[in-house]
Amino acid sequence: MSGFFRPDLRQRAEELVTLYPRRRSATLPLLHLVQEQDGYVSEAGIEAVADLTGTTPAEVRGTASFYDMFHLEPVGRYLVGVCTNVACLLSGGLEMLEHAEETLGCAPGGTSSDGVFSLEESECLADCNFAPCVQVNYRYVRTRTPSEFDAMVDDLRAGRRDQEIPPHGTHSRVKRHVTLRATKEEVAAERRRQSEARAAREAAKEETK
Ligand code: FES
Repeated sequence: MSGFFRPDLRQRAEELVTLYPRRRSATLPLLHLVQEQDGYVSEAGIEAVADLTGTTPAEVRGTASFYDMFHLEPVGRYLVGVCTNVACLLSGGLEMLEHAEETLGCAPGGTSSDGVFSLEESECLADCNFAPCVQVNYRYVRTRTPSEFDAMVDDLRAGRRDQEIPPHGTHSRVKRHVTLRATKEEVAAERRRQSEARAAREAAKEETK
């Protein structure tokens, strides 16, 4: 077993490999673990996954490079996606993207000079009701105006949304274990935590009005 993963993720990696009849079938979930640990799919992570799945680094790299959600280069703690697909385009998606570039100081595909934010232009994010749609680390943030976007960036910088939006690479904070299920209590606790964080943010917004 490679010494690449930190202890909690190492245990998770071992569990994942045992979930599948063929070890190589665990490649994608293991790559998510690499991204959770390093924020992107690092070379050391690729080697660790190859080791665990009995494949080669070239095979793992080939798989990772196929999927948009895996990043082979470092990205910021927060990956901001702005949708410019049809519904969002008609609702100011391009203008929102331009505003995001200005606020973050980087073009789509780039990272802010402080390394905290990366920006990408996204295809439909399946949240067209809230166009123009913005996601941060694949969580919907529903900031539809430039001023809401800037307030969200300030909140993220100040750590006020850590409960809702973990660092890039944290796909899910509720880990499945042994089988493919998390316990009801774990799911309920995570949902409670999310809704409390949202309620606190709404209350803070009301106070500042
Ligand atoms: S078109 Fe933007 S979320 Fe669907």
